[in-house]
Amino acid sequence: MQIEALRAGDNFVYVLVDGGRAVVVDPGVAGPVVSYLDEGELTLDLILLTHYHGDHTGGCTMLRRTGCNVVGPAGGFVDLDRTVADGETMEFAGTAIEVLGVPGHTAHDVAYYLSEAKALFTGDLLFACGCGRLFSHDAEQMWTSLCRLRSLPDDTRVYGGHDYTLENLEFAAHLEPDNVAVRERLDCFRADPEDEIPTTLGEEKSTNPFLRCDTEAVAAAVNMSGHPAAEVFAAVRAMKDRW
Ligand SMILES: [Fe+2]
Repeated sequence: MQIEALRAGDNFVYVLVDGGRAVVVDPGVAGPVVSYLDEGELTLDLILLTHYHGDHTGGCTMLRRTGCNVVGPAGGFVDLDRTVADGETMEFAGTAIEVLGVPGHTAHDVAYYLSEAKALFTGDLLFACGCGRLFSHDAEQMWTSLCRLRSLPDDTRVYGGHDYTLENLEFAAHLEPDNVAVRERLDCFRADPEDEIPTTLGEEKSTNPFLRCDTEAVAAAVNMSGHPAAEVFAAVRAMKDRW
């Protein structure tokens, strides 16, 4: 299975391709997806939505004219063919797609995990070296969801919904100036920005401050040593909002 990242502004739209058939994740716009499908003479089987924000769903209306099914979590405003929840599975090209309920960015986010392909589509919950904003206003819930993703194997490739990578790396370097992995990652990114997507969970665990809120280094950086990790997470997220 091939996974292609299409850019739409700072959004990523992902296309999974196998044997002339395709699945699209979070088509915020239709145009680049239609062009890609046409060029590859691909049939679109399925659209997977991680959450209902318009920059992830805006292309659905046009794309579903192809006859594909649209799948996503409850709680949104998009016309779905199937509402999915944590623990459900689908299949594409003989590969299982597992639905992980990971609320926190909104109250209803899901991620899609393909364990055989070692691929994880995280929407706006987890980005390269960052995470989405806390529209749910529930830091504990979002921290729990991030920890759940963090528990997946290190070699899992992470396909996040946005490219805020440089800004995220600079924030991480500000927060953890002594973290050598962050510094090296920032240097690598500046040398070759295209090399950053997808990232891996192993790399995120060592560099993404939002996955490191239970470390003393990150807690100390927001003057919250000894506090519960969810409180540290809320403080780091609030600091990033003002960054
Ligand atoms: Fe979003």
